[in-house]
Amino acid sequence: MASCSSLKQHFFVIIFVFLIITGISSPVNGCFTSIFSFGDSLTDTGNLLEISVSESAEALGFSLLPPFYGSKNGRWKEFQKGVNFAVAGATALNSSFLAEQGIHSVSTNISLGVELNSFKKLLPSLCSPSSNCRELLRNSLIVMGEIGGNDYNHPFLQGENTEKILQLVPLVVDVITSSINELIELGAETFLVPGNFPNGCSPSLLTNFQGSSKDKYDSTGCLTWLNKFSQHHNRLLQNELEKLRNRHPNVNIIYVDYYSFTMRIYRSPEQFGFKETVKACCGMGGPYNYDPSKSCGYPPLERCCSDPSSYINWDGFHYTEAANRWIASVVVEELMSAIPGLKNLCPTSAINKLRIPYQHKSTF
Ligand SMILES: *[C@@H]1O[C@H](CO)[C@@H](O)[C@H](O)[C@H]1NC(C)=O
Ligand SMILES: *[C@@H]1O[C@H](CO)[C@@H](O)[C@H](O)[C@H]1NC(C)=O
Repeated sequence: MASCSSLKQHFFVIIFVFLIITGISSPVNGCFTSIFSFGDSLTDTGNLLEISVSESAEALGFSLLPPFYGSKNGRWKEFQKGVNFAVAGATALNSSFLAEQGIHSVSTNISLGVELNSFKKLLPSLCSPSSNCRELLRNSLIVMGEIGGNDYNHPFLQGENTEKILQLVPLVVDVITSSINELIELGAETFLVPGNFPNGCSPSLLTNFQGSSKDKYDSTGCLTWLNKFSQHHNRLLQNELEKLRNRHPNVNIIYVDYYSFTMRIYRSPEQFGFKETVKACCGMGGPYNYDPSKSCGYPPLERCCSDPSSYINWDGFHYTEAANRWIASVVVEELMSAIPGLKNLCPTSAINKLRIPYQHKSTF
């Protein structure tokens, strides 16, 4: 476990992505040759996670995906294997639209549309439109999300009223599904689409709504109404995904239920090795160890819990490495059960690396 000091100057964006490839030079029939990921992502401790899932004594693996933003042109050659467009703080809705609603993005103005445009601009350098672009996308895994969480978190933290934020949900879902649609039109056939996490368990939001009456919290200490909000997004998203599946029967759209799995951890933390649930590891102040004016990584503050692996939450917004490991293992399971043949199609050597790619972000 890395120490707090080695972490404090970095914020890393994590996207759960599978890279089940042996290398672009030897694509395996039936196995993904590339992965493209879009979204906002989760921040982690900055360590590359290597996760093993024991399944007939094999380890499954995530592989590192190079981040698109901030990459030098020289790296673009690597991008054929896949690239991560996700950016910390990214929203589904574009920043000008959010600004019109009086919602200001705190950390970035990059939205899903911006990420998708970057991808479309990059594409001609990865393949030739007349020949193998559709082929490239057909053999790719697209990870669409997690995205949308920030569209809601920002306005909740900025004190917008819930009714108004609720009105954003169908718009957010629409941006996600139309992005999937665009990629389907370009030839993509396999999508992983994670839903939102339980927002009501986030130390930043719990702090924001601190002092709510007792009956507003569930037995886990999370805010019920905020979790219902996340579930509402997830339900709408799943409904729209189902419509997409019906329209495109040849396309595999796999919903990843981050919410349910994460709630399992909150309900039985000790079963997963956690002692602290709604308190942030890195930060200070209040019952949730979170104060927006003294947040994690803010020099010269260094307030890190002594055992981050016993905490679910890292900094008020993001999960700890330990929690991400569990969440990632679920993503693997869902992918494997959604595509039963995958394990046979991809050689063991190709599946044996499981890592979570991350993207460096120097400021927060
Ligand atoms: C921003 O989003 C709104 C609502 O989804 C859309 O009408 C508008 O065209 C978008 N603007 C840009 C620049 O993408
Ligand atoms: C985002 O902000 C940067 C710098 O502030 C600006 O150059 C860029 O055009 C903006 N992008 C969008 C999509 O608004």
